[in-house]
Amino acid sequence: MEPTSAAAQSGAAASQSTAVEFDQVSLAFDEHVVLRDLSFSLPAGAMRILLGASGSGKSVVLKLILGLLRPDAGTIVVNGQRVDTMAERDLLRMRVDIGMVFQENALFDSLTVGENVGYRLYEDGDLTGDQVRVRVEEVLSFIGLSEMIDRMPASLSGGQRRRVAIARAMAPKPGLLLFDDPITGLDPLIATTVDDEIVKLRDLEHVTSLLVTHQIRDAFYIATHEAVRRNGQVQIEDAGAARAEQVEFMVLLDGRIHFQGTAAELQASPDAYLKEYLLMTLPPW
Ligand SMILES: Nc1ncnc2c1ncn2[C@@H]1O[C@H](COP(=O)(O)OP(=O)(O)OP(=O)(O)O)[C@@H](O)[C@H]1O
Ligand SMILES: [Mg+2]
Repeated sequence: MEPTSAAAQSGAAASQSTAVEFDQVSLAFDEHVVLRDLSFSLPAGAMRILLGASGSGKSVVLKLILGLLRPDAGTIVVNGQRVDTMAERDLLRMRVDIGMVFQENALFDSLTVGENVGYRLYEDGDLTGDQVRVRVEEVLSFIGLSEMIDRMPASLSGGQRRRVAIARAMAPKPGLLLFDDPITGLDPLIATTVDDEIVKLRDLEHVTSLLVTHQIRDAFYIATHEAVRRNGQVQIEDAGAARAEQVEFMVLLDGRIHFQGTAAELQASPDAYLKEYLLMTLPPW
């Protein structure tokens, strides 16, 4: 699939703009403060990888972007629009341009793979049945699961289900993809097939993405590899320094961004918390 999708084009056109901007965002559940004056921005076309301990607020950040939660203070701008104060009906429209891969795949068990992938397209009603079918075949081919189109999710492996969830999120050609821990629970080889899909979406479809994960090994893999098309074949290769520089990590701690920088900067950081975090989460190489 050539990167000619609307998302790719708008992503390229908007490459100088900001897809997501948090400015001094605070949120507490009763007296439990989760985010304290959190500020960060995600430039259009870029990828940010959000790390942090369990309960540090990563999923909350994604829900704030979608307008599923509202902050107590601060502003959140997504694709140029204030979402923290947006009315519900406008939020529905705003979410059309956002794809979400949930922490638990959330595939519909009673629908086939193809029906799952086409679900939003059928719901939106903008395309004919034939057009939906074409798009579903296109995204299943992109993730290498074309032959699974009529299978039920229960008959797929865990890794295949994650890839179907990714295909479903990308089917409506969103400009922004949010991944909530898409790799956790998969064995390392299968996890790499999911990592590769995320790399392909970033490099070939130019989708802006925010990736939440606990899997530091996969996060480094994604940050340091790139997808290239050679003679019609897609290959995943070690990324040059320029590509690796474009992917930044953010580590959430105590409701704020404790660290922001590249994979190399994260690994070289002298910060005691980060060293401990990497030690606990990275396998010995
Ligand atoms: N709707 C809610 N009501 C009350 N507390 C909540 C709610 N949603 C999240 N929290 C709390 O906010 C904190 C952050 O939750 P969040 O789900 O963002 O963590 P996380 O970083 O995604 O963790 P994990 O890595 O385990 O998924 C947790 O302490 C959680 O209990
Ligand atoms: Mg979470």
